[in-house]
Amino acid sequence: PSDTGRVLSIQSHTVQGYVGNKSAVFPLQLLGFDVDPINSVQFSNHTGYPKFRGQVLNGNQLWDLIEGLEENELLHYTHLLTGYIGSVSFLNTVLQVVDKLRSVNPDLIYVCDPVLGDEGKLYVPQDLVSVYQEKVVPVASMLTPNQFEVELLTGLRITSEQDGLKACNTLHSAGPRKVIITSALIEDKLLLIGSYKRTEEQPPEQFKIEIPKIPAYFTGTGDLTTALLLGWSNKYPDNLEKAAELAVSSLQALLRRTVEDYKRAGFDPASSSLEIRLIQSQDEIRNPRVTCNAMKY
Ligand code: ATP
Ligand code: PLP
Ligand code: MG
Ligand code: NA
Ligand code: MG
Repeated sequence: PSDTGRVLSIQSHTVQGYVGNKSAVFPLQLLGFDVDPINSVQFSNHTGYPKFRGQVLNGNQLWDLIEGLEENELLHYTHLLTGYIGSVSFLNTVLQVVDKLRSVNPDLIYVCDPVLGDEGKLYVPQDLVSVYQEKVVPVASMLTPNQFEVELLTGLRITSEQDGLKACNTLHSAGPRKVIITSALIEDKLLLIGSYKRTEEQPPEQFKIEIPKIPAYFTGTGDLTTALLLGWSNKYPDNLEKAAELAVSSLQALLRRTVEDYKRAGFDPASSSLEIRLIQSQDEIRNPRVTCNAMKY
């Protein structure tokens, strides 16, 4: 048994590059977790490249793996982590997995990144939205949407910080105690907005972290953010601000390294999507220096 936790992580796998499980498993291992990845897809590379090939796992195949674990009494998890899910049938099976894991461990923490789209573009089938709203959000312990995903899930437009906070309240009343809007562009500023509903009775504790915007486009950073938030909020279960500061700070150090490495190799980092320098940033993941501070509302 591990003293930190054991995470079942259901996410994409890419042979080359870092998105999904490839960007979540290594950092969680560095933070001391046992991580058991289920690869919801296996693609050659992420879908932002001109071409990709590979295989997609279906709901029955996912359930088969869960039954294999169950038959050997290997279903004891402290955390379930999910990211990009491409179909309603797979998402419904994930819901069955949540129930099954909670029947073994009622204290299971379900960290859900409700990946629906970004910057006004949906990149999953539209019919996933209502399944997330009605069935997934209610069972999540921690939810990590971006601005667009919050808008889809709540039906509220987020154009101000107040809008963001209100949307967090709406999401809390649907279920999750911890809500983190991992990125929101509000009045030209890049923000992470966090909201922790410590008890039923009290209003949530809310904060923001202003993130210095780097003129480059990265993939895998959303998945990495959620993994780091899971990791640090397990170490600081009652201090979401601290967990978010650590997650954002180590991510920023990694992104600076990524940009510097591309520049050194003669690439213009603003010209295309960058693969993150994850393995090279292991010191910053294990021992982040807090450079981005939270501000309470
Ligand atoms: P999801 O992928 O779950 O939909 P997301 O849209 O928030 O979430 P990203 O847009 O990758 O995912 O942002 C996640 C985090 O990555 C941000 O909080 C920020 O810390 C960091 N990040 C991403 N791009 C940049 C950038 N250009 N400059 C600075 N930080 C960035
Ligand atoms: N999963 C797969 C298979 C992808 O192709 C991509 C991006 O192209 C992602 C996940 C998204 O990663 P993130 O939102 O963390 O940038
Ligand atoms: Mg984004
Ligand atoms: Na997110
Ligand atoms: Mg994303």
